[in-house]
Amino acid sequence: MNQRSNFTSKIGFVLAAAGSAVGLGNLWRFPYLAAQYGGGTFLLVYLILAVTFGFALMIAEIAIGRKTGLSAIGAYKALDKRFGFVGVLTAAVPIIILPYYSVIGGWVIKYFVTFISGDAHAAANDSYFGGFIGSPVEPIGWFFLFIALTAIIVLFGVEKGIEKVSKVMMPILAVLTVGIAVYVVTRPGAMDGVLYYLKPNFKDFSPTTVFAAMGQLFYSMSLAMGIMVTYGSYMKKDNHMEKSVRQIELFDTAIAFMAGLMIVPAAYTFYGGSTEELKKGPTLMFVILPKVFDQMPGVMGTVIGVAFFLLVFFAALTSSISLMETVVSIVMDKTKWGRKLTCIVVFVFSLLMGIPSSLGFNIWGHITFLNGLTFLDLFDFVSNSVIMPIVAFFTCVLVGFIIKPKAIADEVKETDGTFKSEKLFTVMIKWVAPIFILAILVFSVAEGMGWIAV
Ligand code: PHE
Repeated sequence: MNQRSNFTSKIGFVLAAAGSAVGLGNLWRFPYLAAQYGGGTFLLVYLILAVTFGFALMIAEIAIGRKTGLSAIGAYKALDKRFGFVGVLTAAVPIIILPYYSVIGGWVIKYFVTFISGDAHAAANDSYFGGFIGSPVEPIGWFFLFIALTAIIVLFGVEKGIEKVSKVMMPILAVLTVGIAVYVVTRPGAMDGVLYYLKPNFKDFSPTTVFAAMGQLFYSMSLAMGIMVTYGSYMKKDNHMEKSVRQIELFDTAIAFMAGLMIVPAAYTFYGGSTEELKKGPTLMFVILPKVFDQMPGVMGTVIGVAFFLLVFFAALTSSISLMETVVSIVMDKTKWGRKLTCIVVFVFSLLMGIPSSLGFNIWGHITFLNGLTFLDLFDFVSNSVIMPIVAFFTCVLVGFIIKPKAIADEVKETDGTFKSEKLFTVMIKWVAPIFILAILVFSVAEGMGWIAV
């Protein structure tokens, strides 16, 4: 095993973890789920889950990492031999996510290039995205570029440089997102859309909304996939875990919230309040944002579009690097191959796995699984709705009943003896979270299989 270096500063840990957390999950996935699952209802459920579940799970994972000094595969086994399989399961998640994540990363590059070559106006037309995605070859080309860039960075180990760039880029992205959201909200006639996004409406509430919000929480905060365990293993004892987790959560949620505010009301307005049209899924951001930019006066739309897609590209790249790093280190540990060979194998594997996800939007669109899921939906479903809940459930059982919440609380208290939300943590991890997750798992699998319609 390579030596474990620590984060040099406290803020360094928060930034690195936030850098992994903030990505396409916040900007691309959150808005389309919010649009699809009833706007305000989804938002409310998400926020409640974030401060309860998300908080408890992130604490548990980081503490497991710091306590054992190991990444997921070793950490779960070290705590209890019988739970070794949970660590192995976590490894499957980044392996499944990386390819399709990179397909969307490719779309982001495509839109950046579109805006920089002055095609902003054309991109606002519905047929633009349709034309792009309808071709089997072009999206694969961009996907190839994105995954190749990720692989090159991981191969040459220049993540540090990228991280530096992204530390500057992330705050700018946050500001730009706020700016675009304000622009959207202040458009004439935007109010109904804003209300749709902010106001919970009970008739939209269904178990599916809760499942979708939960899966999104895991995805967005990089939970239940071993990532936070690994980050925790690098965290120093003098870093107050509870405060750090609160900061990461706040930042991640704020970005997601703003991204939703930028996309959902606009989509609502453009489609004249038709909630059917809001169920566009993965394509929503790419269809709506160019329309928003096109309404801006003069060249402003082009400038904002270029800046926005560039920043999203960096956010996506830091996340894909973190995903690929994880996959590479898992494969290296298992096979004892060199780093170069491992990088190449992971690159080729991800490329092959990503191609069906891309083709699912055109020539393979007729191939569906379970309840009508295309390739990308299927990978997304298996990782978010099946494996992550299983990992989260067993993490709760391990912490709640085997090593006991106190062991984690003691780890949290290492810094200065305080753990303000210890009670909340204990109740969540021991009772509420596992029962809830089990229910979610059963329902979402039943729904995915088409056994129940909710
Ligand atoms: N949390 C990231 C996002 O929201 C996705 C990710 C998962 C990144 C795991 C790295 C590792 O996009």
